[in-house]
Amino acid sequence: MRVMTVVGNRPQFVKAAAVSGHLRERATELLVHTGQHYDRELSAVFFEELGLPPPEHELGVGSGSHAVQTGETMARLEPLVDAERPDAMLVYGDTNATLAAALVAAKQGVPLAHVEAGMRSFDRGMPEEVNRVAADRLAGLLLCSTEAAIANLAAAGQAADARVVGDVMADVARRFGPIAERRSRARERFGLERGGYLLATAHRAGNVDDPAALARLGELLRRAGESRGPLVLPLHPRTRTRLAQAGLLAGLEAARGVRLCEPLGYLDFACLLGGARAVLTDSGGLQKEAYLAGVPCLTLRERTEWVETVESGWNRLVGLDAELALAALDELLERRGRERPDPSLYGDGEAGRRVVEELLGWLS
Ligand code: UD1
Repeated sequence: MRVMTVVGNRPQFVKAAAVSGHLRERATELLVHTGQHYDRELSAVFFEELGLPPPEHELGVGSGSHAVQTGETMARLEPLVDAERPDAMLVYGDTNATLAAALVAAKQGVPLAHVEAGMRSFDRGMPEEVNRVAADRLAGLLLCSTEAAIANLAAAGQAADARVVGDVMADVARRFGPIAERRSRARERFGLERGGYLLATAHRAGNVDDPAALARLGELLRRAGESRGPLVLPLHPRTRTRLAQAGLLAGLEAARGVRLCEPLGYLDFACLLGGARAVLTDSGGLQKEAYLAGVPCLTLRERTEWVETVESGWNRLVGLDAELALAALDELLERRGRERPDPSLYGDGEAGRRVVEELLGWLS
């Protein structure tokens, strides 16, 4: 059995790391890197640290508008699928790489499996929501992290093709969290005490591409750093560029309590996450990783796909409202002293193995 796995961005390297080893024990995997992320700290460092094998094929697509990125990935992937004729295509999550690969598989008649299927924010303004809905429609096997995802697929009439396997990112967090604690010196490097700082990330198009939203985001982070910091902010290149274009970068850099840095590899980031008092983020994956690390999260969006983190009380949706964010932060910190979240919410750490079992069972 030959399975073509297509990845392109930072979160997909993490997800594939949970599956690839299991897959290679029982089948031939052809790992394709679209090249959507190409900087060392967004790409190569994840392959090295998580033991992901080097890709068999690199498409070198790079950055561009949604249409350029998706179209270019399709144009470069199609001849590869023709040449390799895989028995199945495996895709992860909701990025442009996911959508492009799903379209190519569907048009070439290659059976398609989608991992992290059924997630919904119900906000079609998010490019990721468009990508997820389309990838789910095109896939024949829908591998879900949670029961909430199954319910979303059932509502779309796709329950028959859907299975809960658990969350593949949670597999990686369980496995590499303790390794990060032992190996990474990130806290020492930044001069941080365990439990003595906030960790923030932001890169969503809706938050950083619109100048008014970006100004509110910058203000929220500055106030959080000044009043509850230090706040460590590893900057995605997209966010750095937008802040610089808006003339906001220098002010944030100079703000008391705010520490900007380059994007971090998996282990350094996991180490900082493990010792953080709380997380502020607009990332999907980080909401879940914070939950699993027992760290309260403020989500800088109006909606989330990871509804369980909110229902359990460990995540609060605060949008870009600084007042609300600071009040919610104080409430969450108070709770943190008393309780721990239930880590089994996102599976038992065996989601990657189940993905492979379901996939091979489906193909046989
Ligand atoms: C993409 C995904 C998003 C995911 C995120 C993870 C889509 C629509 N979005 O967003 O769902 O959460 O990856 O990080 O697929 N850039 C670099 N170096 C790189 C890659 C990008 O400098 O290696 C810069 C470029 O200026 C680029 C910008 O970042 O234009 C945005 O990159 P892109 O891959 O288009 O989207 P992300 O914001 O990373």
